Amino acid sequence: MDNKLYISQLRDYAQKEYIPIIRADSERFMDVLMNIHKPLRILEIGTAIGYSSICMAMALQQRVDDFHIDTIEIDPEMVIAARKNIENCGFSHNIRVICGDCLEVLPALTARYDFVFMDAAKGQYSRIYEDCLRLLRTDGILLCDNCTYHGKLDVNPAQAPHKHRTIIANMQEFHRIILNDDRLSAVLLEVGDGMILASKKR
Ligand SMILES: C[S@@+](CC[C@H](N)C(=O)[O-])C[C@H]1O[C@@H](n2cnc3c(N)ncnc32)[C@H](O)[C@@H]1O
Repeated sequence: MDNKLYISQLRDYAQKEYIPIIRADSERFMDVLMNIHKPLRILEIGTAIGYSSICMAMALQQRVDDFHIDTIEIDPEMVIAARKNIENCGFSHNIRVICGDCLEVLPALTARYDFVFMDAAKGQYSRIYEDCLRLLRTDGILLCDNCTYHGKLDVNPAQAPHKHRTIIANMQEFHRIILNDDRLSAVLLEVGDGMILASKKR
């Protein structure tokens, strides 16, 4: 089956099974970034069923000779599904799915990446931020998804429903950290559920 048809069916499947994958406009934005930046080495945090990894691979396949994606996923069942989808699309040699908690996996990584896509648990972004920055090469791009938390961020966490409080406070802290970090140029974009795009300065 043609990969375009495969991922279109994968998007339908994710929707039906309530598996959170990148939104359609965020996918288009990422495609633009792949075209402009042409990263050869990508790190993704949060694989789910491999949808966004496959999208990046499809974009790069047309633009560069060789590329590699490392993607980290904590849920073993997702890892199995992702590996199967990646294999079905013919990208097993380009994409490595690492099964584990990013809080443990990231500190052990040493290679540098041209592009880091943060798309795992929103409440943990501040905790994995320093490792992501360390692993990103100078001039590399850091893209963070779900940064506006469905529009719920413009509130005082104390006044938010209890179940959202911690995540809102954590995401607000992440905004303060990344948008004020002199080591990066960073901007919050109204794409998808809010994406922060940053590049690492010299
Ligand atoms: C939004 S989904 C990723 C979607 C995927 N990037 C896509 O667009 O196709 C987030 C994923 O992060 C995983 N995750 C959550 N906490 C994690 C952690 N601490 N380490 C690694 N993966 C984690 C979840 O199991 C979930 O599959």
